[in-house]
Amino acid sequence: MGTLIYAHRGASKLAPENTMPAFELAHQAGADGIETDVQLTKDGVPVLIHDENVRRTTNGTGFVQDYTYEEIKKLDAGSWFSTKFSDTPIVTLEEFLEWVQDKSMVLNIELKNNVIDYKNMERIVYDLLQAYQLLDQTVVSSFNPDSMKRMKEIDPKVATAFLTSQKLPDLFGYLKRLQVDGLHVKYRLLNKKLAENCMQQNLALRSYTVNRPAQMKKCFKLKCEGIFTDVPHLAKEYRELYQ
Ligand code: G3P
Ligand code: MG
Repeated sequence: MGTLIYAHRGASKLAPENTMPAFELAHQAGADGIETDVQLTKDGVPVLIHDENVRRTTNGTGFVQDYTYEEIKKLDAGSWFSTKFSDTPIVTLEEFLEWVQDKSMVLNIELKNNVIDYKNMERIVYDLLQAYQLLDQTVVSSFNPDSMKRMKEIDPKVATAFLTSQKLPDLFGYLKRLQVDGLHVKYRLLNKKLAENCMQQNLALRSYTVNRPAQMKKCFKLKCEGIFTDVPHLAKEYRELYQ
């Protein structure tokens, strides 16, 4: 199979990020997987939205954590992208899992708990993945190292990955302490040495956000386990050409 193609926030170049139309398009494009971002509402409902604040991607203002689910579901998360998508709602993690469960896709659930460390987030997400029997095809990731440790404490079998956009000293010692199974790096950090080290340490290496053909080619050549791309339809074409 080679490098897996994860649609980053769904097919987010073609439809508003982290919404059902973006996920549907990713599936239609033949993406192997979907990456999505989770935040928690005031009443602890996991919802799919990238930012802590709803301002950029909805018609609302303020923080996700200050909205109840009943309130947040009324927001329009599509119009900012195009009027074609007006009134597209924010999706809950549960709605997404229900939709994806019969679709043999892999998942990357990114816990957005590096700015606000939401209470119990790992347990809430874990219980849902388990209820939908999706743990085997899911990687849970975060920029928050403590969160990745907590996830392993809940269940050492959950596949986890640490996200980073920066060079870190003693990276591999650090990853070992976190007991993660993978490393998700910003594309500019990707190089041959890193790929070789990950291979040696048995860590799955994935890179974001890989939208250009030359970048895709490099990820394929370095045998990354996966790429996160806003354009899964193009990545599929290039994978056929280059891998
Ligand atoms: O999970 C990969 C990537 O999505 C991490 O960065 O900001 O796009 O969520 P961001
Ligand atoms: Mg993300």
